[in-house]
Amino acid sequence: MAITVEDIVFAKQMEVPAGLREHMRAVAEMAAEYAGEVGYDRDAAYVAGMAHDLLRVASDEEILSLARRSNMQLTKAMFARPMLAHGPAAAAWLIENAPDVSFDIVDAVRDHTFPPSDAPILTQIIAVADTLEPSRKIPEREAVRLAQMTFSERFKRVFELKQNFRRNL
Ligand SMILES: [Fe+2]
Ligand SMILES: [Fe+2]
Repeated sequence: MAITVEDIVFAKQMEVPAGLREHMRAVAEMAAEYAGEVGYDRDAAYVAGMAHDLLRVASDEEILSLARRSNMQLTKAMFARPMLAHGPAAAAWLIENAPDVSFDIVDAVRDHTFPPSDAPILTQIIAVADTLEPSRKIPEREAVRLAQMTFSERFKRVFELKQNFRRNL
């Protein structure tokens, strides 16, 4: 049987700490649910969730060299704090190691930390699931997770939370 993108992502997950692996699994499950809500491919959302933080605890050198190699756009803040480029690094890692990966998944992984306000739907899904993943136990985020609202309203709320965070960088 052919090796899938999901197999490759699973294998790489074995290299990261268990807590981070659990976070990625929780995000993947939430992302699949949001995908179902908006009529997007649940399996693709799951894979993107499983991959989004694969380089989250990699060294500064590894993050920057991966991100540079693939011509990912990096901001000044990312050069100052390479951890902020873990999304671009994971996207670059996917392109190099899982060539069958879709552009949607690459974009979603790349931009999950700082999605643009008009991000493609899968990027929105991963950003929302990542921000609202309940193990973080942040009250203002829990309120957004639990409230009744459409997905696009939820993305708007998450975007605002992220803007506040970004101002403090
Ligand atoms: Fe992340
Ligand atoms: Fe995450």
